[in-house]
Amino acid sequence: MIKVGVIGVGTVGTSVVKILHENKKIITARAGHEVSVKSGVVRNLNKDRGLNIALSDNPYDIVNDPEIDIVVELMGGVEEPFEVVKAALQNGKAVVTANKALLAYHRYELQEIAKDIAFEYEASVAGGIPIISALRDGLSANHIESIQGILNGTCNYMMTKMTDEGVSFDAILKESQELGYAEADPTFDIGGFDAAHKLLILASIAYGIDAKPEDILIEGIEEVSQDDIAFAKEFGYAVKLLGIAKRDGDEVELRVHASLIRKEQMIAKIDGVMNGISVVGDYVGETLYYGPGAGGDATASAVVANIIDIVRSGKRAPMLGFDKPLERGLKLKNRDDIVSKYYLRLKVTDKPGVLAQITKLFGEFDISIETMLQRPSDSNFANLLFSTYEAVERNMREVLGEIEALEFVAAAPVMIRIV
Ligand code: NAP
Ligand code: HSE
Repeated sequence: MIKVGVIGVGTVGTSVVKILHENKKIITARAGHEVSVKSGVVRNLNKDRGLNIALSDNPYDIVNDPEIDIVVELMGGVEEPFEVVKAALQNGKAVVTANKALLAYHRYELQEIAKDIAFEYEASVAGGIPIISALRDGLSANHIESIQGILNGTCNYMMTKMTDEGVSFDAILKESQELGYAEADPTFDIGGFDAAHKLLILASIAYGIDAKPEDILIEGIEEVSQDDIAFAKEFGYAVKLLGIAKRDGDEVELRVHASLIRKEQMIAKIDGVMNGISVVGDYVGETLYYGPGAGGDATASAVVANIIDIVRSGKRAPMLGFDKPLERGLKLKNRDDIVSKYYLRLKVTDKPGVLAQITKLFGEFDISIETMLQRPSDSNFANLLFSTYEAVERNMREVLGEIEALEFVAAAPVMIRIV
């Protein structure tokens, strides 16, 4: 009998306990051993969880329990779970986590500490989609050219509802929290940080790159308005929060931001809480992964799969995919050097000479306009909508700074990258 301790019996932890109980027969058949949850840890011992397991409020009750073989960390956070997981590994216990924030900061240290002890984290990226094993095992023969993904279920759910039903930002955020999709602090979701944490994990497996969230371009969906969604829809685009990792020579660009995607593209059709990831390998070509990216049951499905895999034992893939460091490592591309096409919306006073001044500035910063359109706004203002050819991020940032300072510009310019 293999004994599991679950640190954090909240949305995901409750589903883990439930699956291990309800699917016991098939799990025993697949794992070769019976697996049962010995105990769990929560903060609030007075709350009824409807589960028949012993609960404590001290993570070290599980970490130091000699009967427990596998520690499942589902408490969330960064530094506290780091200490807890470190202690579990030092006690020789296998660890499974869904905690991408922990891995975004400490994955290389944890790999070092774990050595041959199993440390698995399938649920940390894209919930129920087995993207970690696809990238680490299924695609291990390839150089990875690019990864492009809808990695945050909350944002995708919100953008879908705003597009299809015109529901307000705040109302849908509340709904995502009630459905168990959103992080304990939802600014992690809407600010793009959760997607960035996941992208960093994928980038380690794909490229062996050790970057932290502070090192990469991260923007959320807070600035995307109903106006921009409506314009995008009219011109044949969907608006999605994308995580992008792309190899360019010996550099890798990593970025998370709202993106305009042509409606015909597969990834534009991924709606609701679903996640979708495209991975391009040099020999396999493009592969696509689709499924529920958040929610207790879908996420717990991946956690339990890791438990089964650990119980089966055998030679494991190295935690972050590489047994030895690459001889010629890849470098992180400076975020200012990223090249993209852009959609811009400028709210300006509707009077002669305005457009001429703006286009002159674009020319000075080597930004070439692909399409331009004027739409009325409130009172005597107009919305100027531009799409550009490829331009350098640094130039775009600088020109928008200059444009914002012009006396006839009535609001901060809106910029969304076109992918
Ligand atoms: P949650 O519902 O907030 O559950 C967290 C659990 O941990 C709660 O039971 C909480 O106790 C307990 N806990 C937190 N800090 C503790 C402490 N210091 N001592 C003891 N217990 C503590 O969170 P969740 O949605 O299940 O997420 C858990 C992890 O999975 C997070 O890392 C999250 O990023 C990740 N994840 C979540 C999803 C999802 O869809 N929800 C998907 C993928 C990954 P109380 O219940 O008493 O507060
Ligand atoms: N808050 C995350 C999301 C949970 O919405 O995608 C899954 O990691």
